[in-house]
Amino acid sequence: MSRFAGKVGLVTGAGRGIGAATAEELAKDGASLALNDVDEARLEETAQRLRSHGVHVTTHLGSVMEPAFIADLAAAANAAHGKVDLLANNAGGGPPMTPWAEFAKSDFAHFRAIFEMNFFTQAMLLHALLPGMVERGYGKVVCVSSISAVLGQESGSAYASGKLALHALVSSVSKEVARFGVNVNAVVLGNPPHPSRTPERQAFLDKMSHFDRVGRLEEFGKAIAFLLSDDASYMSGAAVPIDGGLIAPRLNE
Ligand SMILES: NC(=O)c1ccc[n+]([C@@H]2O[C@H](COP(=O)([O-])OP(=O)(O)OC[C@H]3O[C@@H](n4cnc5c(N)ncnc54)[C@H](O)[C@@H]3O)[C@@H](O)[C@H]2O)c1
Repeated sequence: MSRFAGKVGLVTGAGRGIGAATAEELAKDGASLALNDVDEARLEETAQRLRSHGVHVTTHLGSVMEPAFIADLAAAANAAHGKVDLLANNAGGGPPMTPWAEFAKSDFAHFRAIFEMNFFTQAMLLHALLPGMVERGYGKVVCVSSISAVLGQESGSAYASGKLALHALVSSVSKEVARFGVNVNAVVLGNPPHPSRTPERQAFLDKMSHFDRVGRLEEFGKAIAFLLSDDASYMSGAAVPIDGGLIAPRLNE
């Protein structure tokens, strides 16, 4: 099966985790890829692995926190591949959790930076890439959000706020571009594995999942790839949970 033959995908934060898993699914089904990460070693390792699928993979080292880099990234991906059809707007995340009381005592720059990492970076990539998709009459975008956006999270106010802003962006922009052949969705991730998570935290999250376990990276990659495929042609403006049920936790033991 070559669902993505002839398609070009751009994946941010592709060096490991959700981004790498998504890129892997796109490569397996024939997409050419422009991969971004801020960590060179991770980026090159992922690119080398994906080239074994026989697809053209370019690497774009830099931080999506830099507006000038985002413009360069979009231009370089278009120059190298001729177009970008699929955007996995994945890079994001939180630095160590920060309680509101700490923000309250600070000049708020830290809050802004976390919000920016989780909202403006993805909004800027839409700004850079949607016009080309609309012009060509084809595009699929997935913006990566978190269950923190809809549930809220203690010590995660900046992260959760940035992610929830993405939902409003996606549901609004999607209405404007669907008639031009462009689908824009968000995914609401819960309990993917992460190297920074302690065993105690993992056990807590696993207990909330309907499956009693952490999600596997490929389970997230496959679901995101589905939304980037023509199989999801009538889905747009949605915030789709990929969370093992964490948004609807079990009420009984
Ligand atoms: N893992 C989780 O628990 C979880 C839960 C919900 C949502 N998410 C979301 O999933 C997305 C991916 O998270 P992950 O778990 O794969 O994280 P990860 O830490 O495993 O991987 C993130 C990748 O992004 C890269 N990166 C970091 N900052 C960057 C920047 N400024 N520019 C470009 N690349 C950068 C890192 O080097 C790394 O390779 C994020 O948007 C995150 O908020 C993760």
